[in-house]
This record gives sequence, structure tokens and C-alpha cells, in this order.
Amino acid sequence: MRRKLVVGNWKMNGSRATNASLLQGIVDGLNGASAACAVCAPAPYLAQCADTLKGSPVSWGAQDVSAHAGGAYTGEVAASMLADFGCTYVIVGHSERRAYHAESSELVAQKAVAAIDAGMTPIVCVGETLAEREAGQTAVVVRNQLGRVLERLDADGMAKIVVAYEPVWAIGTGKTATPEMAQEVHAQLRKQMLEKNAVAADKVQILYGGSMKPDNAKELMAQPDIDGGLIGGAALKAADFLAIIHAAA
Ligand code: G3H
Repeated sequence: MRRKLVVGNWKMNGSRATNASLLQGIVDGLNGASAACAVCAPAPYLAQCADTLKGSPVSWGAQDVSAHAGGAYTGEVAASMLADFGCTYVIVGHSERRAYHAESSELVAQKAVAAIDAGMTPIVCVGETLAEREAGQTAVVVRNQLGRVLERLDADGMAKIVVAYEPVWAIGTGKTATPEMAQEVHAQLRKQMLEKNAVAADKVQILYGGSMKPDNAKELMAQPDIDGGLIGGAALKAADFLAIIHAAA
């Protein structure tokens, strides 16, 4: 049985002051929730997350990582540096990075490996655009995106990733995939991993992301292959984020 996981992706939002009240609000409202939870903060605030969350049930992580181990890569942050600040997770291949920073699936795969090598869990994002969905290409798009990562991992490595299915058309738009639509893609992703190794595939948490809110979270996470959520907008308010965490039975 996979434990549910709810991860907040703060994107480029926050300040020391707003983070302090958001983090404290989350910790104070957990009340023994059964789901695991984490926040992925902008890199400058990882030290604040570490200071505030250490010893709490809330994990923290980053939103991107360099594929390189270190050296002359101005502006990049190495996986070892994120691990140094206690990060458990790092998001790789978010559609905003793929779209605005031209990240290829090959680069995303390298980043996932860098994260695993540093002892962290990469949250590997996949998802189709609206045009791709309307052209009937959803299955092939997400298969190719995940496939590039899987081809670099053995079964042990595969068991160390989290996958997030985020249909691009649902991100920040208020349009959510129906539970059935999301489950269909999640089941396909699980099957793709099963082809590689059944035991490892069964362990991998597959999160849904894209306008997940308190009022639709329970139904989405009731699907057999939806193991939690990657939350954007609703992760910026403690009450909404907590409601989603508590909706994950
Ligand atoms: O990483 C999170 C996703 O991009 C979802 O964002 O919940 O604001 O739609 P959203």
C-alpha cells in the first residue's frame, strides 16, 4: 500500500515573512494527518525551511537542480547543495521549466539521476499540452517523457523516484482533469514502469497536479493510481494546503 504524498510547489512566490506564517500554519494544522507532505520552496528559502521544519513531519525540497555536480555553471544549484540543506525532494521537468527554459526530456533525466545520486527523491513531472491532448497524443507524450528517465535507471533507481502527472492545460487554469481522465494516464504510467520491474513500479508514488483544490482533491486521490498531489496555487494558503493533505486518506 503506497502512502499518499502531498507536495506544495510554491513556484516563484514567498518572502521570509509570508513563508514563516505559511510554514508554521502547516505544521500547526497537521494534527496527525496520515499523508506525507512536503513543500518545494525557492532556493533562497531552503535554509528557512530547514530551520522551521526540522523535526516536524513536513519535508522540504527544491523546484529544480543542476544536472552538473559542480564547477563553472553560473546561477545553477548542485544536488549536493540541496542535500546539504536537508532537501528530501526536488522537482525536475516541471512544464514551466520545459516551456520557459527549453528543458529537454534528456536534461530532465540527467537531473533526476543527479538528485538520486545525492540521496534525494526527484519528482519527475510529465504532461501534455492542450494541443497534444486534442490531437490524441497524450499517451505517447507522457510515455516518451517518462521513458527518457527510466532508461537511465535500474529497478532500484526507479523505486527512488516520484512521478507527477501534470496536464499543462490544467496548471493554474482552474481546469482540472476529471478523476477518470487522470486515472487513465496514471494507470498507463504505472504500466510503463511495470514493464521494467513490477515490484519497484508498485512502490512509486504518482501524483496528480493541475488545479488540485480542497474541493476536488478527495475524489482525485480516491483513484487507485493517484497517490497524492503536486499543488501550486492552493499550496500558498495554509488552510487550503492542509485541507488537501487531510483529504488524502
Ligand atoms: O506544480 C504544480 C502545478 O504546476 C499545479 O499548479 O495547482 O496552481 O494548477 P496549480
